[in-house]
Amino acid sequence: MNKVKKAIFPVAGLGTRFLPATKASPKEMMPIVDKPLIQYAVEEAVAAGVTDMIFVTGRSKRAIEDHFDKAYELENELERKGKTEMLDFVRNMLPKDINCIYIRQAEALGLGHAVLCAQHVVGDEPFAVLLADDLLDGATPVMKQMVDAYDYYHCSVLGVQDVPRSETRSYGIVAAKPLAERIEQVSAMVEKPKPEEAPSTLAVVGRYVLTPRIFHHLQNVKPGSGGEIQLTDGIASLLAEQQVLAYRYDGVRYDCGSKLGYLQATVEFGLRHHEVGPAFGDYLAKRKV
Ligand code: G1P
Repeated sequence: MNKVKKAIFPVAGLGTRFLPATKASPKEMMPIVDKPLIQYAVEEAVAAGVTDMIFVTGRSKRAIEDHFDKAYELENELERKGKTEMLDFVRNMLPKDINCIYIRQAEALGLGHAVLCAQHVVGDEPFAVLLADDLLDGATPVMKQMVDAYDYYHCSVLGVQDVPRSETRSYGIVAAKPLAERIEQVSAMVEKPKPEEAPSTLAVVGRYVLTPRIFHHLQNVKPGSGGEIQLTDGIASLLAEQQVLAYRYDGVRYDCGSKLGYLQATVEFGLRHHEVGPAFGDYLAKRKV
């Protein structure tokens, strides 16, 4: 059985919820304190043993490619000014054995379509999918937990958490039965159901480990919720043929696709930041309400 060595980062979305900030720059480049969201997701994949980072990009997303490229001018400037700490940081952002691959999604046809765009690079191997606007914070990085589950069960694994029933419309929701600690056996999956129609309140967050058989199913699904090719519908179809597991990850999720989640992440990561954490904590404690 193959190891999970490749990860897809679908980053072609428009980020309309953060306009005007996202009019000319990608939502995935929005920083939590001093690191862009996409970098947190890539670091999580690195911690899970992934070596090939496949970004499915679209219009106005060039900043992501620039971010992971070598920045000669910046490095020269930092060297000249003797800013060695910053220079080390910029030079060693990613381990040396990591490949970044960029694929263009020419039309915004949905998350399932974005994953399908990467098929020829992934080939016949299991792979991870990480949605960078879900920032997941775990003592053990969440994708590492999921890849460990994959290595044990050898089937697709979806990262899940319980959500209030009133919020099912924002998620892929699974029907599942407990199988082992943190692990459930999925029997059905629906994209963004109404609360009264949701099969449960167990929601898929933006983390998936999938077998390559998903591509066959994505090729055949019809446009679903929002008129888009949905990854959820591909997984629902895969279920007829292969086991799919839901994994209740150990960690905290910040929905950085929403303003509130983004601000919560900023406060939490700000408070533990090595440089500004203590001063920020003092500020929050003392500010007048
Ligand atoms: C996507 C998926 C959905 C999943 C969610 C997690 O939706 O389609 O199934 O639950 O990510 O964040 P989006 O938030 O992109 O609309």
